[in-house]
Amino acid sequence: MSDLVTVSDEGPVRTIRMNRPDKKNALTMAMYDAMATGIETASENQRCLLIGGAPTAFCAGNDIGDFLKTAMGGGLGEPILRFLHALAHCAKPVVAAVQGNAVGVGTTMLMHCDHIIASTEARFSTPFVSLGLVPEAASSLIAPRLMGQARAFSLLVMGKPLNAAEAKEAGLVNIIAPPEQVEAEAMKAAMAIAALPPQAVLASRRLMRGAPDEIDARIDAEAEEFKARLKSPEAQAAFMAFMSRKR
Ligand code: COA
Repeated sequence: MSDLVTVSDEGPVRTIRMNRPDKKNALTMAMYDAMATGIETASENQRCLLIGGAPTAFCAGNDIGDFLKTAMGGGLGEPILRFLHALAHCAKPVVAAVQGNAVGVGTTMLMHCDHIIASTEARFSTPFVSLGLVPEAASSLIAPRLMGQARAFSLLVMGKPLNAAEAKEAGLVNIIAPPEQVEAEAMKAAMAIAALPPQAVLASRRLMRGAPDEIDARIDAEAEEFKARLKSPEAQAAFMAFMSRKR
């Protein structure tokens, strides 16, 4: 397993942490695989998952270089789809601790989580359309249900970011905490969930979410569109602009 993602168990809570702070936790294919494995291998004893990032960034989305390399081979990247389907099929409750920027899949993965603690400084953005792409991770299905069409359009299509207060107002975030308390609050919430009667938690969550078929189908439909868009001149130009930007 890549050390750019760490998986650690503390009693009944499994923490899956993105650990590439120098690149703002941009996700490589290896990291997607490691995160999928972290989800899929949680045992019965791990009653709650916690997804975390770094104090300086939750996740900057796909690693653009790695992503382009894979896309040039004609695919979207099996590890990405593996991770998204693993999230969609995860039966356990998922808590997330968000500090800093959550970009692209950094935000859309949160739509699969159950309880989100965000720092006062957290920022959520999905610049898919300005990159010439379309939303992914079934966010085109989940976001309008979660926050309504108008707010989902503003986020997913217009690319308008949400700050922590706006994300809470939109129903994405549960609790806003000072940066230095985010991790402790998230672990506290995960432990509290894990202390509930486990079978009742699983059954309740299953009832609330329904079968993952619809989510699976949307992930795949978005991926097809995403793949087609990647070949477009507008997407190629946007990615090249990021890679060669002046700093
Ligand atoms: N892919 C590859 N590298 C990335 C990255 C990404 N998605 N996001 C950040 N990085 C790298 C930067 O290139 C930089 O690398 P360097 O130190 O070798 O130059 C490093 O991470 C730090 O990023 P920087 O932009 O300097 O940090 P910041 O705090 O000013 O801004 C972000 C953080 C997340 C707002 C900004 O990096 C960003 O917008 N990234 C692109 C996000 C994106 O479009 N993701 C969607 C992809 S589908």
